[in-house]
Amino acid sequence: MEKIIKLENIYPDLSKARSRGSKAIKYLNNLFELTSAQKKLGLKKTFFVRTYGCQANERDSETIKGILTAMGFVQSNDWKKANLVILNTCAIRQNAEDKAFGMLGALKALKRKNKDLVFGLCGCMPQQEKTIKEVGHFFKEINFIFGTHNIYELPAILENVYKYKKQVIRVYSHEGDVIENLPDYRENKHKALVNIMYGCDHFCSYCIVPYTRGTIRSRDSLAIIKEVLTLKKLGYKDITLLGQNVNSYGIDLGGKYRFVNLLEDVAKTGIKRIRFATSNPWNFDEEIIDVMAKYPNLMAYIHLPIQSGSEAILKKMNRGMKINTYLSLIKKIRKQIKNCTISTDLIVGFPNESDKDFKQTIKLYKKVKFDNAYTFIYSPRIGTPAASVVDKIDLKTKQKRLTKLNELVRKYSKWNNNKYIGKTLEVLVDGKSKTDTNTLTGYSHNWKVINFTGNAKPGDFVKVKITGSSLFSLNGKQVK
Ligand code: 5AD
Ligand code: SF4
Repeated sequence: MEKIIKLENIYPDLSKARSRGSKAIKYLNNLFELTSAQKKLGLKKTFFVRTYGCQANERDSETIKGILTAMGFVQSNDWKKANLVILNTCAIRQNAEDKAFGMLGALKALKRKNKDLVFGLCGCMPQQEKTIKEVGHFFKEINFIFGTHNIYELPAILENVYKYKKQVIRVYSHEGDVIENLPDYRENKHKALVNIMYGCDHFCSYCIVPYTRGTIRSRDSLAIIKEVLTLKKLGYKDITLLGQNVNSYGIDLGGKYRFVNLLEDVAKTGIKRIRFATSNPWNFDEEIIDVMAKYPNLMAYIHLPIQSGSEAILKKMNRGMKINTYLSLIKKIRKQIKNCTISTDLIVGFPNESDKDFKQTIKLYKKVKFDNAYTFIYSPRIGTPAASVVDKIDLKTKQKRLTKLNELVRKYSKWNNNKYIGKTLEVLVDGKSKTDTNTLTGYSHNWKVINFTGNAKPGDFVKVKITGSSLFSLNGKQVK
């Protein structure tokens, strides 16, 4: 009989997460191996994983699903009927946390009717002490909690839960290592997410990510290229290179082989479409633009978060960016990459953001005329420097600013989309539209959502003549 590892509970500690050690990052290639008991643990059981937040979480959820599938569990698409439910959570803003808490409430109620239900929480929320306090004491029913660095332990966690009937809490606060060769699982058959780096060392003053995701750790470039080539062989057509700040790729490995080198090597694999997220405007190597202009399989799309148009606010955000530097970067992108779609992230209501600061954001927006923007009201995150600032701006003012900004976002989205009416674009088909089953939906090479009539299948490339535009999408007809 194989021994079951008895797990001790490990609780998060933000102060540990804050202090970056000089500890070398370990590359662990052979950490994951299931015992024969673990391979059978999920037989005759179904699972449901709900994902909140960013693409890093989406990719983690795929890994979790891969692990559960290897353990014999079968995916269910109805959380109310599943035997095991896992919430992979996000901590970036309070509303993301509130959604997960709402779902936990629903699961608690369900468990009263179904005593055998097992459910747990993972992802960014449990990396914070406060979550464990809020969840651990309030929801006695929760079976397990694990952090972003503990995914590989899931088989042992579930064994402890099912066999010892024990509540397991496993949240490492150290920076984390790079764990390779976890079970591979892909939600989509033609689009894939490929991690290139983990963590963030930038510590923007409002942001919880450097605490929840650890220090920057780049994956080995050969492992990344191998993954892309495997995906290509399997018929994948679109990949997204993922990292909290992809431009920092390689810095932790000595900095000789940087993001621009990786991007070029990935382009050379010949996979049809490649994009990346997220790139921040600092250390955005201008050579990246040259490489993007050179390789047609690098998509004409850049997400370049600026957060504010006010240099005073940017300084307080610990993102000391000069607006002119940002504008010249945008100018170079537009000059060299034809029809490049540019989007950004903006936070309104950062502590003590004045009307003048906000007007500068509006001014910047009008100048750049972004294709799209993700806009947020600042949400204090306990443990970050900005959260301890006394803020004199009331919520109503912040909401008004958001409304005003969103009007502009809609206006320029439509304005940019109108430019494509009458043109023919190549579209990678996702499938039927969720709102209208007679319509197909997909994306252009410059990441525009295209709804169109035609007879293509998911994963096909088709030509679509654009006949009209909506606020955030284009409409068209497939060209025969
Ligand atoms: N409040 C509001 N928005 C935030 N973001 C990050 N942290 C916060 C916060 N505390 C936004 C930033 C970032 C995006 C992923 O989320 O705009 O780029
Ligand atoms: Fe957060 Fe700034 Fe790092 Fe982005 S770069 S994850 S906003 S700390």
